[in-house]
Amino acid sequence: MPKIKFAVLAGDYIGPEVMTEALRVLQHVAQQDGLTLEYTAADVGGAGIDNHGQALPESTLKVCAAADAILFGSVGGPKWEKLPPKEQPERAALLPLRKHFTLFANIRPGLLYRELTDASPLKNERIPNGIDIVCIRELTGGLYFGKPKETITLPDGDVQAVDTMVYRRSEIERITATAITAARARKNKLCSVDKANVLETSVLWRKTVTEYVAKHAPELALTHMYVDNAAMQLARDPNQFDVFVTENMFGDILSDEMAVICGSLGMLSSASLGAGKNSLGLPFGLYEPAGGTAPDIAGKGIANPCAQILSVALMLRYSFGLEKTAARIEAAVKKAVTGGNRTGDIAFGKPSVGTKAMTDAIIAAL
Ligand code: IPM
Ligand code: MG
Repeated sequence: MPKIKFAVLAGDYIGPEVMTEALRVLQHVAQQDGLTLEYTAADVGGAGIDNHGQALPESTLKVCAAADAILFGSVGGPKWEKLPPKEQPERAALLPLRKHFTLFANIRPGLLYRELTDASPLKNERIPNGIDIVCIRELTGGLYFGKPKETITLPDGDVQAVDTMVYRRSEIERITATAITAARARKNKLCSVDKANVLETSVLWRKTVTEYVAKHAPELALTHMYVDNAAMQLARDPNQFDVFVTENMFGDILSDEMAVICGSLGMLSSASLGAGKNSLGLPFGLYEPAGGTAPDIAGKGIANPCAQILSVALMLRYSFGLEKTAARIEAAVKKAVTGGNRTGDIAFGKPSVGTKAMTDAIIAAL
């Protein structure tokens, strides 16, 4: 029986609510497909601060290191907003986790079912068949981690802050390799997004992507686009992209834009794959919903569990090689949602169901 050994970091506010439901779905498919589950829960984010004085406690890191993957909920919220920026749950938990496990490849599917086009702020005629694109974001380089990163007082008394955008060719090559794999699994189309008209890092980015694709995947249709144009094109005609790959900060911004045009954050999952392999020889990864902790609806039992459930599917696919089970979960979510089960965020005034009922519908579809 394949063993699914993973860490459960539910986090704050709706994090634990949707995690409970995602685990319920996983238990169901595990029984159907003969998988053994072995998971350990650990505190992260605000829960880490409250219970251990740290957003990413050492004990939590240990639990993650002993696992083959991390199933992550979401962290942060008003309760910890008064802390200094560096101690905020988002920054003090997520970023160190990414760095610690070298989770350099962030895969964010932008998926909007045709039946849900009303949920998108884009006009229906721009997306008659919904949206189906993928953002590949470099996650451990660029402005987020480059040194120097500091705020100093200058001799003249003025204050100056600096972040450093830095990329090595090897970092660009490995994210390009991830993008190639993603493009090959779809339409053999890849768009690389940069700012090569201004930034040195982007000049290296474009050259490296071009050379790497020419050498390793000449069959791909590779295009390049400046990031400002890409932001505009995403709003104009998102499906002109199939897979796009970009550096850390550009990907942060474009993936939020992608999320909003896809209607609800409650439907989008993501995978952050590491450079290292797990005990099965597959990428160690962190899997999380795209939305945040949604403090305004926490505790009401109305949060959309789909993104967390779809994150389970991504975990089974990438870190455990269980493509069939992953695809079954994705199909069940689609069936439940397009069949009329809608949480409030995707109901558009029609009757809505709560977190548990939504999950029940997905389990029934399985
Ligand atoms: C994301 C988030 C994070 C990021 C924040 C919470 C640090 O916005 O995953 O996109 O900027 O990467
Ligand atoms: Mg973001």
